[in-house]
Amino acid sequence: DEAAKTSTAIEPPSSAFAEKVLSVQHYTDRLFKFRLSRPPSFRFRSGEFVMIGLPGEKPVWRAYSIASPSWDEELEFYSIKVPDGPLTSELQKIQVGDTVWFRKKPTGTLVLDALIPGKRLWMFSTGTGIAPFASVIRDPETYEKFEQVILCHTCRDAGELTYGRELVEATRADELVGEEATAKLVHFASTTREQTEVMGRQTDLGRDGRLFEMLGVPKISPETDRGMICGSMDMLKDTKAMLEEFGLVEGSNSRPAEFVVERAFVG
Ligand code: A2P
Repeated sequence: DEAAKTSTAIEPPSSAFAEKVLSVQHYTDRLFKFRLSRPPSFRFRSGEFVMIGLPGEKPVWRAYSIASPSWDEELEFYSIKVPDGPLTSELQKIQVGDTVWFRKKPTGTLVLDALIPGKRLWMFSTGTGIAPFASVIRDPETYEKFEQVILCHTCRDAGELTYGRELVEATRADELVGEEATAKLVHFASTTREQTEVMGRQTDLGRDGRLFEMLGVPKISPETDRGMICGSMDMLKDTKAMLEEFGLVEGSNSRPAEFVVERAFVG
């Protein structure tokens, strides 16, 4: 149709790549994933994010964690759908063959470089906050650096846990990291608004110790444990406070320490 022809003809700004949609998968009425072709010159560290936009005269740019590992030939993104969201109301309609723009410069703090060495890596996520960790758990360096890797994901209902479950299964079967992931990767999934096997917020389960009991690991301590946090603003604040109660210190790219924090894209 005419609108589609016009929009694909628009050139991206020189600071952005224009890439093709290779696949789209919808999980719930709130969540979907899509994969893009990867420009050969684009490099990033597992856990980083880029700004995504749709072709247009005045594109709306939003931060998206890259959910694929840095070695992958394709780029994966996991997104929420907000009915009146300036970007996601349109982005949720993309189909294979469409064009998506993203800015050339990746950035972010949820990277292994921002953490000092430790024994156990905790990844705390809610909702689409799992996206950067989908990248980190598929990176061989993660398993070189840590003896145990624990991915925690809490969502409102069971349907929202599907992406994470499929991700962990695929990671354990992966040619490159499968063996190490099978030995070292632990997946903790809980819900808060629909009855499932495990119920409750990570912050509540961590504070009352049930999280460690269920996983059979010692309580988090600054000697052995490192953390990464990604979720909503309130979730970041509460999870950061919990890790500080356990004695961990927040780090950054320029000042690596015991845990790092990043806000998940929310609309
Ligand atoms: P709850 O259902 O108790 O609010 P959302 O989709 O709203 O971002 O929420 C995703 C998940 O994050 C939900 O399970 C929600 O639990 C949980 N959550 C929301 N706020 C916090 C918080 N401050 N600390 C920990 N978990 C939170």
